[in-house]
Amino acid sequence: MADVILEARGVAYRYPGGAQALRGIDLAVPRGIRLAVLGANGAGKSTLLLHLNGTLRPERGAIILDGQPVEYSRRGLLRWRRQVGLVFQDPDDQLFSATVYQDVSFGPLNLGLPEPEVRERVEEALQALEIAHLRDRPTHLLSFGQKKRAAIAGIVAMRPGVLILDEPAAGLDPDGAEQLLALLERLHRAGTTLIVATHDMDLAYGWADEVVVLHEGAVLRHGRPEVVLRDGAALICARLRMPWVLEIGVRLLEMGWIADGFRLPRKRSELLACLSNRG
Ligand SMILES: Nc1ncnc2c1ncn2[C@@H]1O[C@H](COP(=O)(O)OP(=O)(O)O)[C@@H](O)[C@H]1O
Ligand SMILES: [Mg+2]
Repeated sequence: MADVILEARGVAYRYPGGAQALRGIDLAVPRGIRLAVLGANGAGKSTLLLHLNGTLRPERGAIILDGQPVEYSRRGLLRWRRQVGLVFQDPDDQLFSATVYQDVSFGPLNLGLPEPEVRERVEEALQALEIAHLRDRPTHLLSFGQKKRAAIAGIVAMRPGVLILDEPAAGLDPDGAEQLLALLERLHRAGTTLIVATHDMDLAYGWADEVVVLHEGAVLRHGRPEVVLRDGAALICARLRMPWVLEIGVRLLEMGWIADGFRLPRKRSELLACLSNRG
């Protein structure tokens, strides 16, 4: 059996006076994996992620971290958040210090790290998100994309073993999205478990080792992207679209341009390579 780092067992949650957002979610996240959590608006992605770092407590069910049920005491939550970092969907929910530098250093300082190490981690995170030039800027004067980068930097600087990002690419320009993917690739290679919620099917298909599709607070499908994202009926039910690279890849396969048994292209570059190989 795969080494599971984080697990939701039968997690159900209703917002006070609101919707039944989760209806019994079972999800095991293998260590070191790149997992995309997919679903239309309101499917329950953010609510699930908020359970995975203890921001929300399930009404029923449990979260298991590294084989142990989590504790919701102050100490338990602190230990949990040291291992599992969550970047919120809305950076305004995350940023609260006066300047970018102060905000990014808040987490590492709270870990009780020595000053030089805090500085090193903050510098590294600022560089990685390409916001070093904004270090003294008041966070409330940043653009949305800059806020998003600052919020990500603040969590990355904690170096969590599990990094969870809620719609990280939403609001980033193409360069920003590319830098983010490069950063995620480096973290993946360093052994970080990555969980990304998105409704960007192309991003999920090109990036993830596994995808889980949520629909109305339940898991509709979970598996390898090239299998789950080819399931047209499931995608229609979940109000999602097939990634365009996969759609064209499937057509090329049907037309005999890609041989049976060959891996379908996952990214634009791989698709273009398939086409030029024919030329
Ligand atoms: N703070 C909240 N109070 C009440 N209902 C909420 C709140 N946040 C989300 N919901 C509801 O919970 C359901 C799941 O929402 P959410 O987890 O935000 O979905 P997603 O992230 O997939 O768009 C939706 O029906 C949404 O309207
Ligand atoms: Mg959301």
